[in-house]
Amino acid sequence: MEKANKKQVNEMTVQRIKAIIKKMIKPTDRTEKYWKKAASKDVESVMESICDHFDKKTFDTKKEALIFSQNIKFDKNMKILDLACGMGRTCKWVAPHVNEYVGVDFIPEMIRKAKEYNNRFKNAKFVVNDGKSLNVLDSDYFDLAYSELAFQHMLKPIQESYVREILRVLKKGGLFYVQIPRIEYYNDKTYSRTKKETDELFQKFLVTYENTSDAYYYIKAEK
Ligand SMILES: C[S@@+](CC[C@H](N)C(=O)[O-])C[C@H]1O[C@@H](n2cnc3c(N)ncnc32)[C@H](O)[C@@H]1O
Repeated sequence: MEKANKKQVNEMTVQRIKAIIKKMIKPTDRTEKYWKKAASKDVESVMESICDHFDKKTFDTKKEALIFSQNIKFDKNMKILDLACGMGRTCKWVAPHVNEYVGVDFIPEMIRKAKEYNNRFKNAKFVVNDGKSLNVLDSDYFDLAYSELAFQHMLKPIQESYVREILRVLKKGGLFYVQIPRIEYYNDKTYSRTKKETDELFQKFLVTYENTSDAYYYIKAEK
């Protein structure tokens, strides 16, 4: 085998092994320690660790990578909450179309990077929280909240706490868009849910199942 070919085969093997290892890691193995470490790197690498199995460039630059973008109608009067915002990747698709965008995450360094990365949006704020509540935010304040690629990293009691808090911070009629990890796919009761448990989680909301993939229920919940 030529030297170049051998190098290519080796590279493919390394990629395959990396993919297998990634599959073995549970989403909830990504604890505060993991996200702290992820946030300590440069912006490119933070994006890399956040985007997981997405193409990094598409993930950051294409609006299609905003999971809820197809469904959400933004307007200039709206106040928006992005729960578990990371480095505020989705801010640029939202802030220009609304009155106020607030991103919340429990990793201070993630929030510092989010501020830096989005400093051109004067109506965007980024806030550190405690990883379970939204006590840094006022009640009945937001028209819409969303949480992307985040609930699968949270244990059920944390998800429940956030859903209670979302109910508090939304205005009446406000909407919450979120992906809920499905038990059929993740096969782990500590963070993924049956349809019945998902219904229970949102029992105080008016719930619409916008879509269902193998891994998630895509929820629109109205207060
Ligand atoms: C895969 S990233 C997604 C970031 C962002 N939503 C996006 O789509 O680019 C998951 C984010 O969730 C945050 N996160 C995980 N658990 C959290 C918790 N309990 N409270 C707040 N943020 C949390 C992490 O710090 C990380 O920034």
